[in-house]
Amino acid sequence: AAPCDLYKNGGTPCVAAHGTTRALYDAYTGPLYQIKRGSDGTTADISPLSAGGVANAAAQDSFCKSTTCLITIIYDQSGRANHLYQAPKGAFSGPDVNGNDNLASAIGAPVTLNGKKAYGVFVSPGTGYRNDEVSGTATGDQPEGMYAVLDGTHYNDACCFDYGNAEVSNTDTGNGHMEAIYYGNNTIWGTGSGSGPWLMADLENGLFSGQSPAQNTADPSIYNRFFTGMVKGKPNQWALRGGNAASGALSTYYSGARPTVGGYNPMSLEGAIILGIGGDNSNGAQGTFYEGVMTSGYPSDSVEASVQANIVAAKYATTSLNTAPLTVGNKVSIKVTTPGYDTRYLAHSGATVNTQVVSSSSATALKQQSSWTVRTGLGNSDCYSFESVDTPGSFIRHYNFVLQLNKNDNTKAFKEDATFCSQTGLATGNTIRSWSYPAKFFRHYNNVGYIASNGGVHDFDSATGFNNDVSFVVGTSFA
Ligand code: AHR
Ligand code: AHR
Ligand code: AHR
Repeated sequence: AAPCDLYKNGGTPCVAAHGTTRALYDAYTGPLYQIKRGSDGTTADISPLSAGGVANAAAQDSFCKSTTCLITIIYDQSGRANHLYQAPKGAFSGPDVNGNDNLASAIGAPVTLNGKKAYGVFVSPGTGYRNDEVSGTATGDQPEGMYAVLDGTHYNDACCFDYGNAEVSNTDTGNGHMEAIYYGNNTIWGTGSGSGPWLMADLENGLFSGQSPAQNTADPSIYNRFFTGMVKGKPNQWALRGGNAASGALSTYYSGARPTVGGYNPMSLEGAIILGIGGDNSNGAQGTFYEGVMTSGYPSDSVEASVQANIVAAKYATTSLNTAPLTVGNKVSIKVTTPGYDTRYLAHSGATVNTQVVSSSSATALKQQSSWTVRTGLGNSDCYSFESVDTPGSFIRHYNFVLQLNKNDNTKAFKEDATFCSQTGLATGNTIRSWSYPAKFFRHYNNVGYIASNGGVHDFDSATGFNNDVSFVVGTSFA
């Protein structure tokens, strides 16, 4: 049986069930998520291939062909209409218009389930989903449970990549007003053993790894590519459990009394649902969500064990992030294709990444400035980094969404900023996508290099000319 059938049989039914990868009830045939494409702003619902089945990724691929797509709604499969929408401004503003958070790219997190392709929700910093008008989720000190299947290798130390119960006001209303799964290596509040990332519970004004607001060494650093995280709570009792979502059983990292710090016993839950953000719309965190649910009632360990077995049987596996792979080790030129600009190539002048007119008769220095060695992605080995031919050790990275040539400082942030995946060009050739911001692509704009989205808050996000400006011909290098 599927997770929500198992929870229902155990007397703790799902009150929210979100999964872009698959149906979470055996009988579910409704929509899993809604996407919106950049070309004409129209939307489409993506449903399972069959009742209880894997998402119809081919329908997404065909709807989004030669354009961009964002995930606009993650539908609730429980029948309670607790759908997740673009998160609104809270105590903190998001980067989109009116302080909203960004929507996730529909193609940032491809996977397979039992060999069938599906897409997860790749949350970049600034991305978030929420529903403040919920039905049936726990409020006050009511019992609840939740799980999420995540990418254990996609995280950061910002606040807070969460999934679960939060404030209806999008602001911090005090200790005990949240109960959500947190995943990452934030160390402001609690920590586990090692250097993280950890599963913790976001109970508001604290990420808890155990009863104490500080360290709980029984909460391990996680190394799984696919990770199942669980949080559950009831009056003066809560638990933190997790395991490899691709094999084996769950472990209990904490099970016991509520924190003794004021405000967490009893809890003051409000019942809103968040994904990818903190309760007050803190939105600096990153992570990837594939599926998750919230229950009414405190699920038993044995029901959770059967849910984990079902997740393992779904056989989550990785698949390529590139639809138009490049060859690592090749020295390449990256030619602009926009009509009127197509004698230009992606080049650098010092730290500035721009486009310049280059030809076989150009000076050697300019030929070198426009030549790049394709390297294995510094932040994800499935994708690529572009090392400067004339400045070895320096790579193209984005900073404030502007491309720059910088020396690799070996930080996690640099490596991720310098990692790009290659897909079939939206107009022609190749389109080069930021790994960490998969809604953003290499673009020239006024002859300067950016990572740009197809419409958005920056001038360089202009939808006009977008497909041409993000399409490049990757060819033999000049030097
Ligand atoms: O509890 C950690 C975070 O603190 C919450 O997610 C947020 O609302 C507050 O900033
Ligand atoms: O380019 C976007 C972000 O800007 C980068 O990830 C970060 O390094 C900088 O703050
Ligand atoms: O980068 C050159 C041009 O500048 C782009 O094609 C256009 O979008 C912008 O005006």
